[in-house]
Amino acid sequence: MMKIFLDTADVSEIKRCWKTGLIDGITTNPTLIRKSGRNHEEVYQEIKDIGLTDISMEVIGSKENMISEGKRLYKKFGKVATIKVPCTPDGLLACANLSTDGIRVNVTLVFSVAQAVLSAKAGAKYVSPFVGRVDDNSFGGLCLVKDIAKLYREQMVTTEVLAASLRGVRDAARAFEYGSDIVTMPPKVFDGMYNHVLTEK
Ligand code: G3P
Repeated sequence: MMKIFLDTADVSEIKRCWKTGLIDGITTNPTLIRKSGRNHEEVYQEIKDIGLTDISMEVIGSKENMISEGKRLYKKFGKVATIKVPCTPDGLLACANLSTDGIRVNVTLVFSVAQAVLSAKAGAKYVSPFVGRVDDNSFGGLCLVKDIAKLYREQMVTTEVLAASLRGVRDAARAFEYGSDIVTMPPKVFDGMYNHVLTEK
């Protein structure tokens, strides 16, 4: 039911937002980890210690590398670890391999319905359409979310839609309206969800 994830590797921001009781998980990526200036595994451990039970940890490189790194992270962090792989031929082979082992996989960098079809067939737990990035390229990011959610419903696919690359409150809310199971957003977008001019008054 409408899960809200934070798209950040900033542990103090996660702590602050976690206190609202409304956060269901975290997504990270190499850029966010770099921005935090910290070691990725330290960051994952601290997020786990806060109490989060679903943390997307991105792996990169060859198929073999993504598989071995994914398994190692799962062994180290247990069930809180969701392994994030890119939607490429190697990424989807890694997805199939890890999923078969019962590891949750988040297929990221999804820009089309066709890619969402392949991700579901590879056993992805989550598929992450990149709303903002699609918008940046003059296609409709929210339409993509809508089309994937509709397709999964019609085909009775169990892969969940995790809308990502959300930059504003309106788009975050709309992503749910269009059928997203999960929306990941920066903490400042989450904060903004509380606001309304009439509430201020
Ligand atoms: O969840 C994906 C996100 O980290 C990328 O967001 O805003 O850089 O497209 P953005």
